[in-house]
Amino acid sequence: MNSIFKDLKCPDCGERYAANIIQTVCVNQSCLSSLFATYDKVSKTSNELLDEDNYSMWRYSAFLPVLNPKNIISMGEGFTPIIPLKNLKYKDNENNVFWKDESGNPTGSFKARGISAALSKAKELGITEVSIPTAGNAGGALAAYSARGNMQAHVFMPKDTPKVFKDECRLYGAKLTEIDGNISDCGKIAQALSIANNWFQISTLKEPYRLEGKKTMGYEIAEQFDWELPDVILYPTGGGTGLIGIWKAFNEMEEMGWLDSRRPRMVAVQSNSCNGITTAFLTNQEDSAAIDNGFTIANGLRVPKPYASKIILNVLRSSAGTAISINDVKIEAALKEIAKKEGMLIAPEGAALWEAYKQLVDSNWIMQNEKVLLLNTGTGYKYLENLKV
Ligand SMILES: Cc1ncc(COP(=O)(O)O)c(C=O)c1O
Ligand SMILES: [Zn+2]
Repeated sequence: MNSIFKDLKCPDCGERYAANIIQTVCVNQSCLSSLFATYDKVSKTSNELLDEDNYSMWRYSAFLPVLNPKNIISMGEGFTPIIPLKNLKYKDNENNVFWKDESGNPTGSFKARGISAALSKAKELGITEVSIPTAGNAGGALAAYSARGNMQAHVFMPKDTPKVFKDECRLYGAKLTEIDGNISDCGKIAQALSIANNWFQISTLKEPYRLEGKKTMGYEIAEQFDWELPDVILYPTGGGTGLIGIWKAFNEMEEMGWLDSRRPRMVAVQSNSCNGITTAFLTNQEDSAAIDNGFTIANGLRVPKPYASKIILNVLRSSAGTAISINDVKIEAALKEIAKKEGMLIAPEGAALWEAYKQLVDSNWIMQNEKVLLLNTGTGYKYLENLKV
């Protein structure tokens, strides 16, 4: 299916940006916002616009930014299953709680979606050398997709990330720099070296197209639930790309007439280590502060201040959602409970959602007949050294 990609738009000041040249964020100094891809308005049914024989995220290529399919770098990412909880029980959650299980993606996480879209578009724009600050999974995905697309990747990762995340980058041929610090420290070094060496930075929400790849989770949620969205979606929030992307997808589908205006309540689940969004949400702040209380076994949630924090907070508020943060002891206990009961060894980021679910049921924020979707964003196999087994 041909893409109906049009241009980029700043969601803050409304400025539009041409899509046939490389773009990053809004140049208006008073906003510097992430840019959103826009698509032509066409009134066509989902049957006419979806590539129904394609069982990857490129099924939705009409709503992805790559204009020439020969530039697509794909390894079958996306179209992951939605599966009901089987043996995990909390109060009366019978048949109402589901995982969307992203662990089967190439390199074991949902990061494959964003990286597939961003690298494909980078290739279309003539880019050959890319860099990324990462908490782990995005670096592995960038390394793998760069290998596949004949590009060179430079990955900047905190030193305290489990070894497998580092080894996979090296095996895929990326140049890895280990940084004594968190992802923000990685970001500063990646920025300086990228400017000096003319590498294109694929940083969360400072590059417009990872969002488009992650957005496909929203399309899948709608299609796989037969266009009846769940009542609540829980999302493990680091930089927030998936949360913002899922919301963007729902809005696009409403414009197409495929969905009505009913929306799930969106929940950002953080680690206690970096709970800036939760704090800002609960204290009614427009933006979050940078908070970093150190190591968390959910490496992907150690993001002191997401670049798009204001947009994340807007999504939570527009959806009548909430934010919640979980400590490492509870995350590890949830991970082990899920493994024992469900036979799924999931990423600690995803496991945090099960504890969040319980707390939100206890506080009656989630009612027992509500349909709830938990986004398991990755496999737990890469995190074994973080766990006491
Ligand atoms: C497994 C996993 N879950 C969640 C996240 C957070 O994702 P996002 O940056 O889209 O909020 C990450 C980021 O590294 C991750 O690796
Ligand atoms: Zn702007």
